[in-house]
Amino acid sequence: MAMAAVLMGLGGYLPPNVVSNEDLSATLDTSDEWISSRTGIRQRHRVTDGLSTRDLAIEAGARALKSAGHPAVGAVVVATTSPDRLCPAVAPEVADRLGLGTVAAFDLTSACSGFVYGLATAAGLIATGAADTVLFIGAEAFTTLVNPADRATAPIFGDGAGAVVLRRGDAAEPGALGPFDLGSDGARADLLAIPAGGSRQRSADGGPGQDTVATEDWYLRMLGRPLYTQAVERMTGSATAALGKAGWGVGDVDWFVGHQANVRILRAVAEELGLPEERMAVNIDRVGNTLAASIPLLLNDLAADGTLRPGARVLVSAFGAGLSWGSTVLEWPDLSVESLR
Ligand code: UT7
Repeated sequence: MAMAAVLMGLGGYLPPNVVSNEDLSATLDTSDEWISSRTGIRQRHRVTDGLSTRDLAIEAGARALKSAGHPAVGAVVVATTSPDRLCPAVAPEVADRLGLGTVAAFDLTSACSGFVYGLATAAGLIATGAADTVLFIGAEAFTTLVNPADRATAPIFGDGAGAVVLRRGDAAEPGALGPFDLGSDGARADLLAIPAGGSRQRSADGGPGQDTVATEDWYLRMLGRPLYTQAVERMTGSATAALGKAGWGVGDVDWFVGHQANVRILRAVAEELGLPEERMAVNIDRVGNTLAASIPLLLNDLAADGTLRPGARVLVSAFGAGLSWGSTVLEWPDLSVESLR
């Protein structure tokens, strides 16, 4: 029997502060009509003072552990592009706060494809024997890195966290993660980037409000149009590759769970794949783009409201900064999942 990483728990968390399109329109030159028609977003959750990525990760992690029945955990991995600080990683602190002791713990950074990269990494930890069970969390307080005065980016992003528990199991079991397709294109790194704060434009050169580094360099820069084109092309290619490796046809897919960056991107990918729109899962209207938290938050919604039933065949696909992308498949297991609404 072939070994695989098997999904055994799922949880999510959204910070309580909800910001609607109307709220944004009060301070930005934008409108509910523009945001909802161009992106599908109607509201997003945002952290307020005192809440950080770590806090969201702890809440989501606790719910995933509860959903899994509190198994012994051998490793904690957090995918985030908005960590509490550059060093150290968030994951050890999350492990400690969840009472998991001195287990292996580290972060990984792959922006909006972080959840799929993290699933593959967690499956690798299990395959190598480094851990029998892994708590993997996608957690983001990314709105703290977005310029609130930039109408091109401020409406797009939201904060939240989603978590899964994976265990060693058999490839034929429901919940077994299928083959992965992963890829990147660093030649297009500038399409979505935060220039300052790292080793190239060092924080020692001056923080926000000082003049050595322009204030805007501390915020996200996004070139929406070329990114949109890449998102459609790369997600379609990656989804097709994962389906091919799994031996699935498009007709085998009950639910296409794609990264929630823009509902128009999802529609275009579904159309390219030849997948009916009714099988395309969407929750971007309520949460916006939550990067590494996007896919597990969507899975949480679908599982909690009964849309995703045991045995459903799921195609997961993500695309984001890097550029980076990834896809995998799984048959949905029988899980008990708490609603986030
Ligand atoms: O998470 C993975 C990475 N991210 C993505 O994959 C994002 C991919 N890109 C997109 O989703 C879309 O490009 C956006 C939603 C970001 C933008 O939509 P768009 O249809 O590509 O609009 P645009 O940037 O080309 O702007 C069209 C117009 C411009 O005005 P002009 O030049 O035509 O007069 C913008 O200035 O819309 C204007 N605009 C706005 N108007 C009202 C841009 N942002 C806004 C806004 N409200 N918030």
